[in-house]
Amino acid sequence: MNSPKIFAGSSNPNLAKLVSQKSKIPLGDIELGNFSDGEVDVWVKNDVNNSDVFILQSNSTEVNKHIVELALIADALKRSGAHKITAVIPYFGYSRKEKQSRPGEPISAKVVADLITSSGINKIICLDLHADAIVGFFNVPVIYLSALETLANRIRKEKLSSPVVVAPDVGGVRRARNFAAYLNAPLAVIEKHRQTNKRDAIEVLSITGELIGDTAIIVDDIISTGGTIIESAQVLKRKGVKKIIVCAIHGVFALNAIKNLEKSPIDKIFVTDSIANRIKNNKIQNVSVAGLFANCLLQEI
Ligand code: R5P
Repeated sequence: MNSPKIFAGSSNPNLAKLVSQKSKIPLGDIELGNFSDGEVDVWVKNDVNNSDVFILQSNSTEVNKHIVELALIADALKRSGAHKITAVIPYFGYSRKEKQSRPGEPISAKVVADLITSSGINKIICLDLHADAIVGFFNVPVIYLSALETLANRIRKEKLSSPVVVAPDVGGVRRARNFAAYLNAPLAVIEKHRQTNKRDAIEVLSITGELIGDTAIIVDDIISTGGTIIESAQVLKRKGVKKIIVCAIHGVFALNAIKNLEKSPIDKIFVTDSIANRIKNNKIQNVSVAGLFANCLLQEI
């Protein structure tokens, strides 16, 4: 049996490196590239016959490329005789389309889960999916990790006085409640309405729960355009909250998100490295999930 290896897709090589350093599971030798027409190509250079292998790939921007790359790496490993192929997917793109909101729509998260697992993956390790039900979309065993405790531990170091944890929409209440429990803090909920005719536009309706104290911590799974947390922060400011912190798992930071977040009333944003983050910005702080994944991988070999 060959020794286990971690193969890094092109989405988040830094996280793969950190997980490798922490777990002492070496990185595999892999060449990733594109044909001139844009098709993805991969080449696994190690002998992986009969070995347990991990592929670390977030389906983040460029999402479609990363999904295909993950599937091709898995296929290459399978054809090279790997014994067990585990896909480590820190950010699972397409997760926000986990149900039909109107007839005629796809359930994209299910399609992507099927695409990925049809390439020979035996197990999935993922982190804070947009909806927990997505775990059931995979026809292979799933280890479902959460970075909430890691983020809560980081927030504790800020020594905030009596913060209120805020869910920026009803769908995020369970996540925010779990986070509030780690901090022993009260919970408030913003009811958000998304206009179906405008993909990224939101409207805030109301807040339930008491906004006691000066500080609010908005907890969300994804920051994409930043619209949700900026709108929530503006509402909280109007309600008299003085300090606004955001804790989010996945920093997609699409379009002008960074510029808009800079101008927003948000004081600090803590986001994990589930998605590669090359942003140099004082407001946005990185909290690594490398240790979480490294511990999990060590249990698997
Ligand atoms: C929505 O239901 C999610 O939990 C996030 O709130 C949303 O994806 C964030 O997107 P944006 O940053 O574009 O508002």
